[in-house]
Amino acid sequence: MTIHIGAEKGQIAETVLMPGDPYRARWAAETYLDKPELVNEVRGMLGYTGTWKGHRVTIQGSGMGMPSLSIYANELINDFDAKTLIRIGSCGGMQDKVGIRDVILAMTASTVSTPSRGIFRELGFAPCADYGLLAAAHKAAEAKGTTTHVGGIYSSDTFYDERPDLNEQMVRHGILGVEMEAAELYTLAARYGRRALAILTVSDHLITGEALPSDQRERSFGDMVEIALEAAFA
Ligand code: HPA
Repeated sequence: MTIHIGAEKGQIAETVLMPGDPYRARWAAETYLDKPELVNEVRGMLGYTGTWKGHRVTIQGSGMGMPSLSIYANELINDFDAKTLIRIGSCGGMQDKVGIRDVILAMTASTVSTPSRGIFRELGFAPCADYGLLAAAHKAAEAKGTTTHVGGIYSSDTFYDERPDLNEQMVRHGILGVEMEAAELYTLAARYGRRALAILTVSDHLITGEALPSDQRERSFGDMVEIALEAAFA
């Protein structure tokens, strides 16, 4: 047990999928895992462990934003020895070629700041995905016929943004989408020698103003879970 995860050692698998929303963790575990067992409910941040095609998998909510994700990822890595951590979440599209419902595989995650910012000081550390996971996820997404983009994303600290100039620079520099967690996940994975990837569905679009209706979010979310599981055990 840790401060934020009530599971016993051994109840968390080496492979962890991390949706931001704890209810999504429950839905994914009940939909895709065999014999899902609730292993965490501290602060309602649900975590489940079960098996997928015989492989043990934990699906643990991360909460929204890098400070929250950082707590769960640190404890999963340092106390439960998680080896592969895959964020499955939503993002806002930032390029015309990126459509609602498309999947983005985040090769890199630019950021103003993460909870790790303090240790880098003047250095602009470049958080990046694990290449093996990225390549496997790309293959799995293509096989499903999912429209997929691979490239840089922006991990913001704010959903209600007051820096339109910064978004403009991100768009100008080819950033595919904006979310709020991946940069810290990638930084922690780099620090501790773990594999990490963020698989994101475009749920809204900063340029076109479109947004995915809530009843359609579930299906897109299911595609991401399948891509994540196939990539983790490729
Ligand atoms: N901004 C930040 N995070 C997000 C967004 C967004 O527009 N959409 C989904 N996650």
